[in-house]
Amino acid sequence: MGRSSKDKRDVYYRLAKEEGWRARSAFKLLQINEEFEIFEGVTKVVDLCAAPGSWSQVLSRKLRCNAENPEDIKIVAVDLQAMASLPGVTQIQGDITKISTAEKIISYFQGESADLVVCDGAPDVTGLHDLDEYIQAQLLLAALNITTHLLKKGGTFVAKIFRGKDVTLLYSQLKIFFKKVTVAKPRSSRNSSIEAFAVCEEYDPPEDYVPNMMNPLLDLQYDDFNQLTGVNRLIVPFVACGDLSAFDSDRTYPLQLKDAENYAYRPPTQVPIDPPYKEAVMLKRQNKLAKPEFQISHVTPTGSSAHHTDKSLSGESNTTTIDCESEKLQLSDSNIEQL
Ligand SMILES: C[S@@+](CC[C@H](N)C(=O)[O-])C[C@H]1O[C@@H](n2cnc3c(N)ncnc32)[C@H](O)[C@@H]1O
Repeated sequence: MGRSSKDKRDVYYRLAKEEGWRARSAFKLLQINEEFEIFEGVTKVVDLCAAPGSWSQVLSRKLRCNAENPEDIKIVAVDLQAMASLPGVTQIQGDITKISTAEKIISYFQGESADLVVCDGAPDVTGLHDLDEYIQAQLLLAALNITTHLLKKGGTFVAKIFRGKDVTLLYSQLKIFFKKVTVAKPRSSRNSSIEAFAVCEEYDPPEDYVPNMMNPLLDLQYDDFNQLTGVNRLIVPFVACGDLSAFDSDRTYPLQLKDAENYAYRPPTQVPIDPPYKEAVMLKRQNKLAKPEFQISHVTPTGSSAHHTDKSLSGESNTTTIDCESEKLQLSDSNIEQL
């Protein structure tokens, strides 16, 4: 597969490089802002789970450009991973589930509150959907807990969610703290992905609510929330955002609409500076990476299908060997492609 095939396959990946964004997710925040105008009047913002930094880039470009004095804009970016620096963005490397991280952010604002908190946090996906959704929800709730320490009354919180089966509980939790909760699906977020964004407006915590990081928000007997029916069931508005003329992230577009020969491949804007897979990539380049062969066993019940003669369908165990070597690890392109 040539380098440009990724550019063709994913138009937002290509545009991210053309416009100098570190990841294609920049377009998600831009399209959310087009719909909800979340940057309006914002001078202090926290970007949780910010690496490699495309949302921080959007915040820095948009807020600082529109400010009379760019130095008045305070942007704090927090992530487990280190991130290359950006103009006007203060970085905190830390875990958003930890109170110590919340304390560092609070001390940076010196008693002032944030106007906006955004969180694009995603755990490493295991492929076990229930588990992935649960961990994602826990991350969002950690972000919400931090937000309750930082956000001014009336402020906005935007967070990535997975629209899994327990998402109704999340909406209920968010509705306790915000007057308005909407689920947004930007055009740049693939339809094939269960990802969406909760846009929570008008922060208004319950009276006497004391923020703390210990809220076991998801550990309730929450099945009941999903069994509510009729008027008791919380229906949160769902909004597709991004202009209809925007590119469809599930479509493939030609590289250059008018003259294909003009197409020039661009490298990614910013290579991740210390990604967790760095060592594996280095070992791979030196040909020192172990090459495991793993086996997949297909076991099907005897006689399940009369017209199949394949051994694998006759109740025996059939083994396929897959060579992991065919999976290419690419350090520089991986971020823009995946986010
Ligand atoms: C999808 S990426 C964010 C992309 C980013 N918004 C951008 O535009 O470049 C998800 C990030 O969540 C971070 N993350 C996951 N769990 C975290 C945690 N507990 N604390 C802080 N960051 C976390 C990961 O390190 C990863 O960088």
